[in-house]
Amino acid sequence: MRSHSIAVLPGDGVGPEVTAAALEVLDAAQDAFGFTTERTDVPLGAEHYLRTGELLTPDLVERLRAHDAILFGAIGSPQAPPGVLERGIILALRGAMQQAVNLRPVRLYPGVPTPVAGLTPQRCDLVVVRENTEGSYVAEGSAVHRGTSAWTAVQESVNTWYAVERAVDFAFRLASVRRGRLTLCHKTNVLVEAGALWSAVVEEVGRRYPDVETDYVHVDAMCMHLPVSPERFDVVVTDNLFGDIVTDLGAVLQGGLGVAASGNLHLGGRAPSMFEPVHGSAPDIAGRGWANPAGACLSLAMMLGHLGEGEAAAAVEGATAQVLAELPALAGAGMGASTGELGGRIAAAVAQRPAVENSLMSQLAQVMSP
Ligand SMILES: NC(=O)c1ccc[n+]([C@@H]2O[C@H](COP(=O)([O-])OP(=O)(O)OC[C@H]3O[C@@H](n4cnc5c(N)ncnc54)[C@H](O)[C@@H]3O)[C@@H](O)[C@H]2O)c1
Repeated sequence: MRSHSIAVLPGDGVGPEVTAAALEVLDAAQDAFGFTTERTDVPLGAEHYLRTGELLTPDLVERLRAHDAILFGAIGSPQAPPGVLERGIILALRGAMQQAVNLRPVRLYPGVPTPVAGLTPQRCDLVVVRENTEGSYVAEGSAVHRGTSAWTAVQESVNTWYAVERAVDFAFRLASVRRGRLTLCHKTNVLVEAGALWSAVVEEVGRRYPDVETDYVHVDAMCMHLPVSPERFDVVVTDNLFGDIVTDLGAVLQGGLGVAASGNLHLGGRAPSMFEPVHGSAPDIAGRGWANPAGACLSLAMMLGHLGEGEAAAAVEGATAQVLAELPALAGAGMGASTGELGGRIAAAVAQRPAVENSLMSQLAQVMSP
């Protein structure tokens, strides 16, 4: 029987709640599609850090490297100093595992309420490919005269041809199995040095994909186009910071942060990729059963596609979409069921193998496998 080894990092706040729901769905997918998983629980997060001072250690990196994939919940706590966990765990993991791309679909499933009047699922189906290892997230910079009125801070953005090219090449591959359209999103009129490099990479890589049409949009214009005419986008490739920001806007279009999924993809076959909902630890609702597990379940679907379990991936996507469409609200007490109950409903639906039209996970599975 096929078996996959998975490291599970539930993290903090609602992270363990949505991860438990996703694991119940994984159990159901295993039963329905005939594979097994070996799971290793990894206790990284705020509580562990505050108790032990431990973040991502070199030893842990090596232990994680031995797995086929990582399923991640969310980390962060008001008790932890700002930035320590984000840089010491999430960004450190993405860097150590060279997870070159952060894949963030923006898809409105049928029957899911969106705050944008008149928006239909047919008009809202795009994927943002966010460069995941550099840009402003390299945490390089310096400050002088800290704490005085002369405080001066410099924060650098690093853009290498190597990292930009691998993200852009992945985006072209994805566009070629979708609607054949790739948009570069940047700010080339102000960030001229980084912008020139990104534009040159898109031009050069684009020659290898003559069937993919390319265009360009400034990131500020993207924030205007995205809610009004998302149908103009198929695959959007962008830098780390812009991708982080525009996909929160994208999450709103598709039903809120609780619905949005992501995959941090290692493209070289030498380290695991990591799958996580876009949302954070949501301390405001943690412990109440108010977190929507859909983002975690759709991230699980992406993980299954990446592991070569394409049919299971499509069924988890279909089951999640089906349960989402039944909810009176997408977050909070108004969902009418707790996080755990929704995980149970999605798990039960997986066994029926519900189909979803134009399955996103089937498209992603074609380009995600290592
Ligand atoms: N990848 C990660 O682990 C990650 C990502 C973002 C933020 N964070 C961390 O999470 C903590 C909280 O950050 P934040 O409040 O800015 O962002 P957040 O994503 O945790 O929450 C933003 C809003 O979305 C809601 N929300 C989040 N997940 C939801 C879900 N599954 N269902 C329904 N509603 C949901 C929350 O209740 C909150 O109102 C911080 O410590 C931050 O650094 C971690």
